[in-house]
Amino acid sequence: MIVFEKVSKQFSDSTTALDRVSFQIKTGEFVFLIGPSGAGKTSVMKLLRREISPSGGTIIIEDKNLNAIPKKDIPALRRSLAMCYQDFKLLNDRTVAENIGLSLEIAGVAEEKKNDLVKEVLKKVGLEKKGNFFPVQLSGGELQRVGIARAIVANPKVILADEPTGNLDPEAAFDILKLLKEINLAKTTVIVATHNVELVNKFKERVIELKHGQIIRDAKKAKYANE
Ligand SMILES: Nc1ncnc2c1ncn2[C@@H]1O[C@H](COP(=O)(O)OP(=O)(O)OP(=O)(O)O)[C@@H](O)[C@H]1O
Ligand SMILES: [Mg+2]
Repeated sequence: MIVFEKVSKQFSDSTTALDRVSFQIKTGEFVFLIGPSGAGKTSVMKLLRREISPSGGTIIIEDKNLNAIPKKDIPALRRSLAMCYQDFKLLNDRTVAENIGLSLEIAGVAEEKKNDLVKEVLKKVGLEKKGNFFPVQLSGGELQRVGIARAIVANPKVILADEPTGNLDPEAAFDILKLLKEINLAKTTVIVATHNVELVNKFKERVIELKHGQIIRDAKKAKYANE
């Protein structure tokens, strides 16, 4: 369970990114986070991963108050809330398999176990033959599959996907959403920040809509805009 309770975020230049935002997301939910550019979507994700701290309010993840989390627990927090990015953020001088395995390596997972896990997720995202390829050799849709594989390899509780289809054509975008939905059906909470009206309308999931840092709509099985 993720709880935001009157969470505000002001940056030092006095920009208000979030203004008393409250919501709850249950384990296993799928949520689209929508709203215009600058509405605060990425800020919500960064707060959840403790990349930034709130100026006010409380964030609770699995009964833990993030305000009180010790610094040493932050890497584990970030492993349990894994991120997918619009621009993939892959290392171009590493193979697909190396990119996916990196977080396991850092976490101290043994080589053999790491290789098995990487192989398993490559299969899950439909890239079993591309492990030895380099990122430049892949299409945008394939690169995002690698991004997702990297996010899920350590079995996170939550996937945070920030505009994951922003660089993809409609068909590849649809396939990426389908993949995220499959992962969600296996009980992982998925939160997708997006501007993609068509996909939100097609998938009809819970929509949390932000504007100027405030929630203006929180609706189940919703479309991008109120009819
Ligand atoms: N490090 C920062 N310093 C100052 N202001 C920031 C910083 N990061 C974000 N902001 C501001 O906070 C507000 C919310 O930004 P955020 O990135 O959360 O929006 P967003 O909804 O993700 O937008 P987009 O759809 O363009 O990605 C914006 O006004 C932005 O300029
Ligand atoms: Mg953003």
